[in-house]
Amino acid sequence: RTESMDMKLKVAEYIAQAAQQSFENCALTGNDVSAMIETPPDKKMGDYALPCFRLSKTMRCAPQMIAGKLAEKIACEEIDHVEVVGGYLNVFLRRGGLARDIVEAVLKNPGRWGSSEIGKGKTVCLDYSSINIAKRFHIGHLSTTMIGNSLKRIYDFNGYTTVGINHLGDWGTQFGKMICAYKKWGNREEVEKGGVQAMVDLYVRFHHEAEQHPELEDEGRAWFKKIEDGDQEAMEIFTWFKEVTLKDTQRVYDLLGVSFDSYAGESFYNDKMQPVVDELRAKGLLEVDQGASVVRFPEEDHLMPCLILRSDGATLYITRDLAAAFYRHNTYHFDKCLYVVAYQQDLHFRQWFKVLELMGYDWAKDCVHVAFGMISYEGQSLSTRKGYVVYLEDLLEQAQQKALAIIEEKSPNLPNKAEVARQVGIGAVVYADLSNNRIKDIDFSWERALNFDGETGPYVQYTHARCCSVLRKAAEMSLPDPDWNALTDDEAQDCLRKLGRFPDVIQEAADKYEPSMITRAVTDLAQAYNKFYYEHRILDDDPAAAAARVALTRAMKNVIKTGLYLIGIEAPERM
Ligand code: ARG
Repeated sequence: RTESMDMKLKVAEYIAQAAQQSFENCALTGNDVSAMIETPPDKKMGDYALPCFRLSKTMRCAPQMIAGKLAEKIACEEIDHVEVVGGYLNVFLRRGGLARDIVEAVLKNPGRWGSSEIGKGKTVCLDYSSINIAKRFHIGHLSTTMIGNSLKRIYDFNGYTTVGINHLGDWGTQFGKMICAYKKWGNREEVEKGGVQAMVDLYVRFHHEAEQHPELEDEGRAWFKKIEDGDQEAMEIFTWFKEVTLKDTQRVYDLLGVSFDSYAGESFYNDKMQPVVDELRAKGLLEVDQGASVVRFPEEDHLMPCLILRSDGATLYITRDLAAAFYRHNTYHFDKCLYVVAYQQDLHFRQWFKVLELMGYDWAKDCVHVAFGMISYEGQSLSTRKGYVVYLEDLLEQAQQKALAIIEEKSPNLPNKAEVARQVGIGAVVYADLSNNRIKDIDFSWERALNFDGETGPYVQYTHARCCSVLRKAAEMSLPDPDWNALTDDEAQDCLRKLGRFPDVIQEAADKYEPSMITRAVTDLAQAYNKFYYEHRILDDDPAAAAARVALTRAMKNVIKTGLYLIGIEAPERM
């Protein structure tokens, strides 16, 4: 349903009412009239025209007379005036009608344009960021973090209850090795001070020394066994490693404005896998293959079998994900559980979704892998193994510095430069990450991200600040009621159309798990506003026209801010 269809039906309903008043036993409905209404090729003949010839027979009256009678009775706000020409009733809309409708609707509930109650009573779990303990937070984890954060905000905006889950990678033999290394060469202060990097260093040293002293591997395994058995010393160190990692990453989450409702990670499911394994066995889905337990899939699924238990009985990543799915389903009763994870893990998710299905759980269809592409940095692909990594904290630090340099140059008198530099620098990074269809690989480039004139975070933020500046000036004037007819030019109409479409974009973004649609829409709004701003004097001499342009500016500011919020970007009022 488009805005113009709504308007046509509205007009048709008024005409039908006028007909009922003028003619006895008239059974015309709004829909009947709407079907007869034509759109004249020439605006001089009105926005709509109703030919009255066909009505002539049933109403036993000349077409011209019918048109005349309808013209007398019809009255509504949306219609400016009507004309009777021959057997036609020509309707001229009040040109500012659309403007008033949209601007008032946006401003009635500031910050909520496009929100809905669609998700009322429904719960969406979102598994995102899901970092690994004792590893540094690098740029490869940016997309999962920001797409997840955005989707959470979008679903919240639509009335859903959302549960943000950081499914920590906190299980595996490496933690045994790390404890072993810590016991041999580490000390508490060093790790407290050095944070994750100190743990990484210990781990690297372990591998180094293990080349000369292979017996270290056994020691590492022994420590992992201790973690598995819940040994007190092992657990203390392990828990502390987790705390140190989370403290380090919290700084990044704070900068990005990202938060979670749960940090239940892989180890949380240690005691929750046995029932799943038992059920798989009971349902005859588990096959023993050289001591290991696997699930094989029906041929038509074309899926490789998946390992559920190793031959030594150890569980796997997938075993934990299965247990986690049951836990989430039982705990949150989700309508949807989204996994914002790189597309490389596609097979993993297809396999265990299928396992759920084979177990007979129809809610398997509510589990969705929201996959995304890879990120490279200034044309270089990143790989932890080859040693080329970009740490997120460094990237965000640089972003703020670069933004600060630009702001120093552009607005030397800004009072809160450091704060704005933070908002703009981080905004640039987040926008760059969410500006493409999520499945596409992206390359992060400073020049592209920080270009104030391109399609970037800073550009949109700048437009928002421009709106704020117009509104500050307008606040010093006393303006009369708006003359909505001042918003009939192409540029204003384009702004209005984009405002009108914004709620549909949010719905589509939610349905497709695609924050980039909102990035696109917010950029379109900014571009439309800037065009309007350059083509028209907002604070015109005519106060009623100025009032209308200011109202449009306020609506644009509002919705740009909402759009930025939904993709996880702040909107400074001055830049
Ligand atoms: N920790 C994993 C990684 O960094 C991502 C976990 C995603 N979530 C999940 N439930 N499997 O690759």
